[in-house]
Amino acid sequence: MIPKLPFLSLLGWWIAGSIAVQAQKRTIDQKVDSVLRLMTLDEKVGQMNQYSGNWAQTGPITGDDDKLQEIKEGKLGSMLNINGVRHTRELQQLAMQSRLKIPLLFGQDVIHGYRTTFPIPLAEAASWDLTAIERSARIAATEAAAGGIHWVFAPMVDIARDPRWGRIMEGAGEDPWLGAQVAAARVKGFQGTGLGHTDAVMACVKHFAAYGAAIGGRDYNSVDMSDRTLWEVYLPPFKAAAEAGAATFMNSFNDLNGIPASANSYLQRDILKGKWKFTGFIVSDWGSIGEMIPHGFVKDNYDAARAAIMAGNDMDMESRSYTKNLARLVKDGKVPVERVNESVRRILKKKFEMGLFDDPFRFCNEERERRVLNDPEHRKSARDMARKSIVLLKNQDQLLPLRTNVGKVAVIGPLAKAKMQMLGFWSTEWPDSDYIVSEWEGLRNKLGAENKLIYAKGCGIDDSSRANFGEAISAARQADIVIVTVGESRDMTGEAKSRSNLHLPGVQEDLIRALYETGKPIVVLISAGRPLIFNWTADHVPAILYTWWLGDEAGNAIADVLFGDYDPSAKLPVSFPRAEGQIPIYYDHFNTGRPALNDSDRFYRSAYNDLSIYPRFAFGYGLSYTSFSYSDLRLSSKSLDAGQKITVSFKLTNTGAYAGEEVAQWYLKDEVASLVRPVKELKGFSKVMLRPGESASVQFIIDQEKLSFYNRQLDWVAEPGTFELMIGSASDDIRLHSKFELRK
Ligand code: NOJ
Repeated sequence: MIPKLPFLSLLGWWIAGSIAVQAQKRTIDQKVDSVLRLMTLDEKVGQMNQYSGNWAQTGPITGDDDKLQEIKEGKLGSMLNINGVRHTRELQQLAMQSRLKIPLLFGQDVIHGYRTTFPIPLAEAASWDLTAIERSARIAATEAAAGGIHWVFAPMVDIARDPRWGRIMEGAGEDPWLGAQVAAARVKGFQGTGLGHTDAVMACVKHFAAYGAAIGGRDYNSVDMSDRTLWEVYLPPFKAAAEAGAATFMNSFNDLNGIPASANSYLQRDILKGKWKFTGFIVSDWGSIGEMIPHGFVKDNYDAARAAIMAGNDMDMESRSYTKNLARLVKDGKVPVERVNESVRRILKKKFEMGLFDDPFRFCNEERERRVLNDPEHRKSARDMARKSIVLLKNQDQLLPLRTNVGKVAVIGPLAKAKMQMLGFWSTEWPDSDYIVSEWEGLRNKLGAENKLIYAKGCGIDDSSRANFGEAISAARQADIVIVTVGESRDMTGEAKSRSNLHLPGVQEDLIRALYETGKPIVVLISAGRPLIFNWTADHVPAILYTWWLGDEAGNAIADVLFGDYDPSAKLPVSFPRAEGQIPIYYDHFNTGRPALNDSDRFYRSAYNDLSIYPRFAFGYGLSYTSFSYSDLRLSSKSLDAGQKITVSFKLTNTGAYAGEEVAQWYLKDEVASLVRPVKELKGFSKVMLRPGESASVQFIIDQEKLSFYNRQLDWVAEPGTFELMIGSASDDIRLHSKFELRK
C-alpha cells in the first residue's frame, strides 16, 4: 500500500510553493502599482515612448540634445540602437536624473549574434538542431547583455513562402510546425533561466502578424488572408513563442485584411493578450503607428495614437504619436486613462522583472563586457552552428568530401576572399573585419599552406562584365579541383530587399559555366540569404553546397564540410523554386480537385503549361556524404480513440561509408475532413547520429494533438477518419507509408 504521508507532504510543498510564487507575483504587481500611483500622465506616456539613438558605438553621446533632455524629464521608457556598456551607462545616468528615476530599457536587433555573428536564422533553421539553435540564441543573449542590452528584437518568427521577400532570411522558413519549434527554442535561448539574471535578455517576438505573407513578396506590403490560413500557417510560431514565455511582442508594418497590425485589436487584444493570456508588452514596429496615415487608416497622428492604444499596442517605436498625442487624447476623453495605465503596468513589470529597479546599472559592467565578448567558446559554437547549417544539394559521383592531398585547389569567385559578406544583413558591425574567417582563409587553415591554393575573382557579385573570366579560366586550368564561390552580397536580402529576379546575380552563373568547360571537377558554394535560382548549375555541376551567410566562422565551417571533418546534415527549411513564376511554392499545399500527377499531366489540371509544378529542391531536402535506409515500420495499433496514442517505430540504418546524422521527418495527411487538408504536414522529426553500418530504432507518438487542426469555427479539433503516415528523408522523399484510423 502506498503511504499517504509523502503524497500529503508533496501536496503541502506544492501549495506552499504556489503561494510563494503568488506572493512574489503580487509583490511585483504591487510595486508596479506603487510606482504608477506616483506618475503624472506625461510620465506614463513617456514610458510608452521609444527612440533610436544612432550614436556610433565608440563615439561620445553628443547631439540629439532633445532626446537627452527628454530622458532627464522622464519622457522616455526605452531606447534602441544603443550598445556598449559605456553608452548604456551614460544614458541610464541621465534617466536617474529624472523625477522618479525609472530606468530605461535598451533594445537592439540581435538577430543572429551580437559580438559573435552566427549563421542567419534561415540557415540555422536548416540545421533542424533545436539544441544548437537555442545555444546560439543563448550566446547572443549573453553577449548582448554583457554589452548593456536588456532586450533583443528577436526571434523573428514570420512564416515565409515567398523568397522574393528579403526578410525570409530572418525566420525559420515555410513550415508552421518547424517554425514553432524554432521560435520556442530561440525564446528559451534569449531568456535563459529567466529574466532577472544578468545574462538573460527579453525576447521580442515579431512581426505580429502575418508580415511574411506580404503580397507579391514586396516588403511592407498588405496581407490578405483567410482566418484559417492565419491560424493554421502564420500564428503557430507566435503561439509557441508566447507559450515559451516570451517577454514582449512587436507588431508589424502590414495591414491584415485592411486593418494595420498596429491598430489590430483582433490580433493584439483578442488573440495575444486575450486568448493566449500574454502578460508582457507589445512594441510597435519602427514608425508603424504613424504609418497608419499613409495606409489611409487614420487622418493624423492623434487618431493614429488612439487607434494603436485602443487596439493594445503598448509602446511606440519612433513614431512619436504617443508622446505627442496620448496625454491630449486622455484629456479629451478619447482614451480612458485605464488604457494608458494598462500599458505602463506591462512595461514597468518587465523593468522590475529585469531587476532594473533594484539596480539600473546591473547590465553595465565593463569587466564582464570585455570577458564575455572575447569568450573563445563562442567562436567554437559559431563554427559548430555554421557547419550544421550548410546544405549539401548535390554530390554526383561522391566528388565530396575532398582529401587534403587533393593537389592544387583553385578558389574562384567574388566571395572567395570576402569577409563582411559572410555576415549577412542583420549582423552588428564592429570596427574591423579581421575576426571574420573568409572562405579563402578557411581553406588555407585546413590545408595548412597557402601555396596549395590559387585565387581568381572572375567577376563581381553583380557585374555584367566577363572581362576577368580569362584569368579565372587559367587559374582553373592549373588546378586539380575548382571551388567556385558565388551568391548574393549581404545587402541583397534583408529588410526592404525584395527582389523579383532570384537568379544568381550578374554574370556569376556564366562564370560557373566557363569554368565547367575547362573539364576540371567543380564544387560550387552558394552564399545567400534566400533560396536562389541556379538551374544550369544544378543540372551540370557535380557538387553544390548551399552555404547561406554563416557568420564569423564561415570559412572554417565550409572547409570542415568540404574536407569531410563534418558530414553535412542540414535540410532545407524552405522550398527552392525553379522559376520565379512558381512562387509562392510550399510543400504543404492542398490537393485541389484536379491535381496533376506529374509534369506531363497538364491537360485541364492544376499545373503550368510552361513550367514544372515541382520545386528545384524540396522542403526537408539535403544530402549527406553517407546514406541511410528506412525499414521495419511498426505501429502499436492501426487505430486509436480520442485520448489514446499510437507508438510508431522504424529502423534507420547508416548504409554508407561515413559517420553522419540523418534528419528523419514524419508527415501526416488527414484524408477526408470538414475542411480540405494539406497533402502532407510535418509533425515531427528525429536527428540521429549513426556510424557506418549502425542502426537505431526511432520512435514517436501519435496522439490526438498531432491529428488536430482549426475547424471552421477555429476550434482545435481532431476529426475521426483515416490518416496517412509518411516517414522520409525529405518532403519529396518518403520512404515508409502506413495508414491508421481515428475512431472517435
Ligand atoms: C524595423 C524592422 O521591421 C524590425 O524588425 C526591427 O526590429 C526594427 N526596425 C528596429 O530596428
